[in-house]
Amino acid sequence: MQGPLENLEQWDDFVQQRYDPNRKTEDFRDYRNTTPGVREFYRLNHTLQTYDFAVAKKKQYCGLSKTSMSIWEALEYLNTLVDDSDPDTDLSQIEHNLQTAEAIRRDGHPEWMQLAGLVHDLGKVLWLWGEPQWAVVGDTFPTGCAYSDKIVFHEFFADNPDTKRPDFQTKLGIYEEHGGLNQVEMSWGHDEYFYHVAKEYLPEPALYMLRYHSFYPAHREGAYDYLMNDHDREMFQWVKTFNPYDLYSKSASKPNPVELRPYYQKLIDKYFPSQVAL
Ligand SMILES: [Fe+2]
Ligand SMILES: [Fe+2]
Repeated sequence: MQGPLENLEQWDDFVQQRYDPNRKTEDFRDYRNTTPGVREFYRLNHTLQTYDFAVAKKKQYCGLSKTSMSIWEALEYLNTLVDDSDPDTDLSQIEHNLQTAEAIRRDGHPEWMQLAGLVHDLGKVLWLWGEPQWAVVGDTFPTGCAYSDKIVFHEFFADNPDTKRPDFQTKLGIYEEHGGLNQVEMSWGHDEYFYHVAKEYLPEPALYMLRYHSFYPAHREGAYDYLMNDHDREMFQWVKTFNPYDLYSKSASKPNPVELRPYYQKLIDKYFPSQVAL
């Protein structure tokens, strides 16, 4: 796999370590032991994710004219994302999505939330289409306004060309205070992309989970409250409820896609058409 990360999960693993409930608070902002690959990944992400880049990628992909396939086909397609992970310990993409869904199901959450778990990382197909790692995964953040110092490896923003655009570097930048996240151009990646794929089909709390699950600066660090309106705040309770299933469902046993498919196929058919535009 090309790029500084050995595989896309290396970013997920880093986030998981950062928010490990057993992590000592004094270690919390100490990233000195981060592997060079992960650091380099963030350097690229923070340097290259500009407002113009986010707008351009949205234009390129969110017309959903690239291809179409069923949700299950998309899960299997994502699984062709072969990487160097250890096959004995690491989960495949389909397993991570299923495991997230299964953990949500076990806790008795509604079907639409189970389905959100099942599809939450499907946007990573961007990587299969040749997008670089830094434009597929990574903590997301608003572009077009000042970068919160709550964003991990904040120092790497110094080389982002948007720091030279004074209109982008005030607290609110080009946005209105409490104008709502929907007005905000987020950094580009699998979250924003798959939100656009699913937005006609899933209930709103599920869409917030898809769109903002990597927005750690907000849902974990409380940053950017001044961009949110009351509705965003209400919906972010769902994003926060979802996050532990994404982060901490990994240690349980591996789900079996063949056994689980009939159950999830029913859920998929309830909400999505047989072919979904990607
Ligand atoms: Fe994700
Ligand atoms: Fe995930």
